[in-house]
Amino acid sequence: MSGIENARAFRKALGAFATGVTIVTTRDANGEPIGVTASSFNSVSLDPPLVLWSLAKSSLSRQAFSDSGYFAVHVLAEGQEHMADRFARSGEDKFAGLDWDHCERGSPLFNDFAARFECQLVHEYDGGDHVILVGEVNRFDTKDHPPLLYHGGSYGQFRELDRSAEEPGKPSLTGPNS
Ligand SMILES: Cc1cc2nc3c(=O)[nH]c(=O)nc-3n(C[C@H](O)[C@H](O)[C@H](O)COP(=O)(O)O)c2cc1C
Repeated sequence: MSGIENARAFRKALGAFATGVTIVTTRDANGEPIGVTASSFNSVSLDPPLVLWSLAKSSLSRQAFSDSGYFAVHVLAEGQEHMADRFARSGEDKFAGLDWDHCERGSPLFNDFAARFECQLVHEYDGGDHVILVGEVNRFDTKDHPPLLYHGGSYGQFRELDRSAEEPGKPSLTGPNS
């Protein structure tokens, strides 16, 4: 990637891929809670149950995630933009004034989420200026909340399409699994 214009265009193109928003938490060597907003979360495998996300090598939290060996992923619900903003600010005391529980392996757990996955770190891969963290899911929970979405640098809401007027069997943009 050469030149700032290309880098900007690349970021913009990547932003065309709409995602959910997560906060991933762990604990550092002193037992302090650590958390980062991440949209790079994705599913990997059902059996064994694996998920992944990627973390910038420049992140202040990077060492804690590698050392702890455990993390918890909170898939945010609509209305939790303030939490996403808070955990995207590098180096601040992100947990000040918040309530959380510790899971068995120490990762801080929030009680508001659309889904939550408690994971053991099983692989860490180099990914350029990021590391790719793969976790095996030990526990998960879901709540019936609509998800917070992220697209082109902005937060948004999910709106289901009305497809009742479409002919059955007609090829569509959304594919067979949707
Ligand atoms: C919506 C959104 C998604 C983000 N996704 C990621 C991500 O997937 N990986 C990452 O390393 N940083 C991501 N960030 C940036 C981090 O949240 C941010 O750099 C954070 O401040 C790192 O905290 P730390 O330096 O205290 O560890 C995202 C930020 C926002 C607002």
